[in-house]
Amino acid sequence: LDNGLLKTPPMGWMAWERFRCDINCIDDPKNCISESLFRDMADRLVEDGWKELGYEYVIIDDCWMSRLRDEQGRLQPESFRFPGGIPKLARYIHDRGLKLGIYADMGNYTCMGYPGTTLDNIEIDAQTFASWGVDYLKFDGCNSNPVEQMLGYPLMSKALNATGRPMVYSCSWPVYQGGLPPNVNYTLLGDICHLWRNYDDIQDSWDSLQSIIDWFSNNQDDLQPIAGPGRWNDPDMLIIGNFGLSLDQARSQMAIWAIMASPLIMSNDLRNLDNSARAILQNKVAIGINQDPLGIQGRRLLKEKSQIEVYWRPLVGSTSALVFLSRRTDMPYRYHTSLAKLNYDAGNYRAYDVFGGSLVKGLNATTELTLSINPSGVVMWYVYQETQYKEETET
Ligand code: GLA
Repeated sequence: LDNGLLKTPPMGWMAWERFRCDINCIDDPKNCISESLFRDMADRLVEDGWKELGYEYVIIDDCWMSRLRDEQGRLQPESFRFPGGIPKLARYIHDRGLKLGIYADMGNYTCMGYPGTTLDNIEIDAQTFASWGVDYLKFDGCNSNPVEQMLGYPLMSKALNATGRPMVYSCSWPVYQGGLPPNVNYTLLGDICHLWRNYDDIQDSWDSLQSIIDWFSNNQDDLQPIAGPGRWNDPDMLIIGNFGLSLDQARSQMAIWAIMASPLIMSNDLRNLDNSARAILQNKVAIGINQDPLGIQGRRLLKEKSQIEVYWRPLVGSTSALVFLSRRTDMPYRYHTSLAKLNYDAGNYRAYDVFGGSLVKGLNATTELTLSINPSGVVMWYVYQETQYKEETET
């Protein structure tokens, strides 16, 4: 949706994958879905250096609502868990220079059974969110049929616009249509939404992450061309810092999300992150690649018999990023290639190893390269011409 928002993919934090529908604030006050959880995360974003790197959206997911709408038919938060109401939480978040996202569902009920936004509630819900100071809406699609979705998703886009408050509009519609054309009309989605979930929910495992990477890459001819400023594919949250990924696998997620111009929306416990997870999520070069102003989604270039995959993304100023991903399960693999084999023109290049922190100088397109790639890990390179950015990178 071309209205000036999300010129680059959104960055921030979302509750769902890590905190799910934990509504038991009596037994689990620190982790339940409540205003204090979102205030805690806002504090961490500001105090631990996330905000200055661009992580700015704090997004409430399912299970924030009361089971009943109020007398005027408006959604309301569950009052025990959100005693100050959403406007107060929005103020807290805005006061810290952050933005607030919220969740609703086009249908009779949310995925977890809370009040849905049926067609006749779309306008009032858009107005309620605007009046609360919401900056981002995740609009899910559980418990609705294709006709309702066909009417409801465009209608919500109009209703959000009509409020006059700029709000990011994230649509889960494609998930409920199978994710691919011709069932999904990505031209229409690009006109009405800023981003959209295309595929399954991420879970806290390498298997889940691999299935997402495979699905997006196998379908890249349909999906890659539709992305760009104001219109992003969303392969779901970053799970780095949780329980399911090794250090190498965590780097793999960050690298592929950067290449794919994916939203960098973490779902983890920012109050308890180990330093390795923090370093990956705060890697400035990986973030810079993700946030590249051209906004061109990268592609899988090669899928080798050796189970090495090569991904490439063109970046501003004729620079580019490469990711070498190993799907092996044995030992570090020595992969032989050259920039020429990866379609680079003749010339002199340098490569910055994004996670290794070293600079490879004096490359030309035909230089024989040997890269050592860990099992389920990546090597990620930022590649530029020898004559470019010399000063910056050498210091
Ligand atoms: C769906 C979405 C998830 C999350 C849950 C909440 O499964 O895809 O991201 O929002 O609903 O119930």
